[in-house]
Amino acid sequence: NTIEPCTFALFGALGDLALRKLFPALYQLDRAGLLCPDTRLLALALDAGEQTRATVAEHLRRHVPGAELEKDVLQRFLGRLDYLAMDFLNAGDYVALADRVGDAERLIAYFATPAALYEPICAGLAEVGLAERTRVVLEKPIGHDLASSRKVNDAVARHFPEDRTYRIDHYLGKETVQNLIALRFANSLFETQWNQNHISHVEITVAEQVGIEGRWGYFDKAGQLRDMIQNHLLQLLCLIAMDPPSDLSADSIRDEKVKVLKALAPIDAAQLSQQVVRGQYVAGNVLGKAVPGYLEEDNANPRSDTETFVALRAEIRNWRWAGVPFYLRTGKRMPQKLSQIVIHFKEAPHYIFAAEQRPLIGNKLIIRLQPNESIALQVMTKEQGLDKGMQLRSGPLQLNFSDTYRSARIPDAYERLLLEVMKGNQNLFVRKDEIEHAWLWCDRLIAGWRLQGEAPKPYAAGSWGPLSSIALITRDGRSWYGDF
Ligand code: BG6
Repeated sequence: NTIEPCTFALFGALGDLALRKLFPALYQLDRAGLLCPDTRLLALALDAGEQTRATVAEHLRRHVPGAELEKDVLQRFLGRLDYLAMDFLNAGDYVALADRVGDAERLIAYFATPAALYEPICAGLAEVGLAERTRVVLEKPIGHDLASSRKVNDAVARHFPEDRTYRIDHYLGKETVQNLIALRFANSLFETQWNQNHISHVEITVAEQVGIEGRWGYFDKAGQLRDMIQNHLLQLLCLIAMDPPSDLSADSIRDEKVKVLKALAPIDAAQLSQQVVRGQYVAGNVLGKAVPGYLEEDNANPRSDTETFVALRAEIRNWRWAGVPFYLRTGKRMPQKLSQIVIHFKEAPHYIFAAEQRPLIGNKLIIRLQPNESIALQVMTKEQGLDKGMQLRSGPLQLNFSDTYRSARIPDAYERLLLEVMKGNQNLFVRKDEIEHAWLWCDRLIAGWRLQGEAPKPYAAGSWGPLSSIALITRDGRSWYGDF
């Protein structure tokens, strides 16, 4: 796939996502020489105007590391940037947009707006005859359950075919997530072990230190299950659990992911108490600083029972994974930012070392997505020294990306994703049926919560979640991996 020149139109260009993530990502692409000379950027917002370039420049200074902000690149980048004040609900404004786009062959329309605007924007683009040459990029959340996500997807599909619809899950753009595919399918070593004969269980942790960061209104309607599990964690689960695709094409990969989602065992109300823990943070300490509880954040409704933490035990009903639990855990206000997948391999079939060392045994593959991207295979070796006898130690065979490839900068997820849209390559984007199967599974779980009517369990900000999330895994004779 080659990078095509385009007009890149950002709907919602003065919003938080665009200013904090999308413009910096586009700048980095320009800096890396990956934007075609003819590519133009078009900032669309109700209040776009003469100050737009200065606003974008100011945010680039804030969000791009100083050493990477080069004067001539910045100048070139701002030279590509045009703006148009638009009310996305006003059909007349699309005429002005079409005029501005002119005869550019390819329009990329990035919707960094609430999903409620996707339908009017799509209709507006179609009305002025822009749809045929446009790829649309949709940000999450697409709906808040299966029915509402279908409604959004159907509205978009009335004007744009699936092969020009790019649904973002920014986790798919992360460097180590990409590496997961390379690791699994470019090495014969792992695939032979990648099943219930050899793997005992899998852990996926996505912990965040931040709280709600001024997004209380949005977050409270969603909660951590919809905000993180429905998309990011289930996508990671799919990439670990899927069968090898026959090639790297978008549909081959996505077909395999859908099979995993279909095989996820539903968690009904009766299983909730054993398989799922919901938590909500109360005041505590993060990095030595006192922070308020969820219900004390700005604009909070003090009676909210929205969860800010979820831990759950999922099962995949197929030959490869029968009997292998996938423990997922994600929360706000945890002690550190950490996204990590741990694959626990089974013990060797016959054990010949000292009994007290047995708990150490078992290889683990630890895939660290952030911070400090790395892949480590924890293997057993012998302690060195004449006095150590056959004392075992568990140590890593490690690939630390920033050390190993010291000169290479690890790109932000959005840089890769925007580049892939410009190439017309969909394999890092989520297909409609993936989103829908993920919602189906989550909706069932949420319905169980409603039926049960139980409040989320409190946990102190700066802790690893409610105690029952530890019980969730210790009940199976295991523990969450790590030194915390
Ligand atoms: C977003 C969620 O999709 O992902 C946020 O809406 C969350 O609540 C964010 O903070 C986490 O992304 P990252 O890349 O910082 O791990």
